[in-house]
Amino acid sequence: MSFFICQNCGFGSASWYGKCPECGSWNSFTEKNDFSESKKNTKEPTKKISITSLKSIKTSEKKRLKTNLFELDRVLGGGIIEGEVILLTGEPGIGKSTLILQALKNIKTLYISGEESSEQVKDRADRLNINLDNFLFSNDLQIEGIIEGIESIKNEVKILVIDSIQTLYSKNIQSPSANISQIKETTKILVNFAKKNNIAVIIIGHVNKEGEIAGPKSLEHFVDAVLNFEGEKISNYRLIRANKNRFGPTDEIGIFEMTQNGLKEIDNPLIFLESEKNSQPGKAIVGTVEGKRSLFFEIQTLVVPSILPVPRRVIKGLDYNKVLLLLAVIRKNLNYSLDNYDVYVNVIGGVSIKNTSADLGFIASVISSFKNKPLIPLSLFIGEVGLLGEVRKVYMEEKIIQEGKRLGFKKIFSNKNLKNIKDLIYFI
Ligand code: TYD
Ligand code: MG
Repeated sequence: MSFFICQNCGFGSASWYGKCPECGSWNSFTEKNDFSESKKNTKEPTKKISITSLKSIKTSEKKRLKTNLFELDRVLGGGIIEGEVILLTGEPGIGKSTLILQALKNIKTLYISGEESSEQVKDRADRLNINLDNFLFSNDLQIEGIIEGIESIKNEVKILVIDSIQTLYSKNIQSPSANISQIKETTKILVNFAKKNNIAVIIIGHVNKEGEIAGPKSLEHFVDAVLNFEGEKISNYRLIRANKNRFGPTDEIGIFEMTQNGLKEIDNPLIFLESEKNSQPGKAIVGTVEGKRSLFFEIQTLVVPSILPVPRRVIKGLDYNKVLLLLAVIRKNLNYSLDNYDVYVNVIGGVSIKNTSADLGFIASVISSFKNKPLIPLSLFIGEVGLLGEVRKVYMEEKIIQEGKRLGFKKIFSNKNLKNIKDLIYFI
């Protein structure tokens, strides 16, 4: 019996297809010849499993390598663990290669780049004023060759960087680089290498705006941590967060500003506010806590009459479905029909808020724009809003309120003074 595999996505079938029914690529099916191997496996005798008591296992405290960037260490949980495999994703041009050079300048690193030549990397380092003593470099991209090449220097190298996984390939896979089977195979080899040799591996993966390119997404379960580097290229702010972190928290964020001289770490909780003092219709300041740090964001909403049969909802920085849900909550509880209005939402700084404590502020910004009335100057909103319009307490609310007061906000709205969004309309 023959068996066919799509070289692009790994889809398997007993019959040959010209176009893969799974991923849609053409002429990607090849016959799998090592079918006999799987038959051989069925003859393997039953092996009784060996069972150990977990309590008796001795664990060794793994060492953390501190990077040169505190904001990155904060997100990782205190630094990079020896042998950890980190997937760093982000859009092309957002600053991933810059981050790596700045972060690892004091750690012995082998940097494999399929994106740039050694001259380009050196140019960047010169621009960043980084001493390259700790960096070894290669442009060679065959994974088997990389593993063999690192053998002789593996006692000195602490970190292997792959920039990017889309350019790497294994000689044992026929499909071109960046195909899913190449990405998976090369990542598996890297993970084995890291665990066996206690060398950390940072794998850079490009994702597009939707973050959904099949490649890096499908690697998330192989690796120990997935860090996403986000921001808008037009804005200078960059956030780094962990979507997955086996050895640390997932709620911490690191903040940077991209400057002429590379990434600068930011500690100021007000950095995303343009000017918190003036008040205009549709503008609301929200307080959130990310990890151990409070942060304040400005949400701008524009509610305008629509000429379209289906009004537009254009949303940047907040979750699309969450916004639709909150608009439904407004409709039901406040009886405002926004069906004939377009709604545009933006979070200043080109960053996204993942936190539910921004719900109340978003609703305030919608009402403010709809009524064309500014919110009370120096007011701050902290609160999650439920389906029935109730305002809920958020995680670490007291800390955000204290910090808000310290920073000079005069009126703070939270579930302490608002039980339901219906109460909001007395203030707008
Ligand atoms: P880069 O690290 O090459 O992005 P990625 O690896 O994610 O593709 O960064 C590219 C952008 O960053 C580029 O548009 C130039 C800008 N940049 C600065 O603004 N300042 C700097 O000091 C550096 C090195 C880059
Ligand atoms: Mg790059």
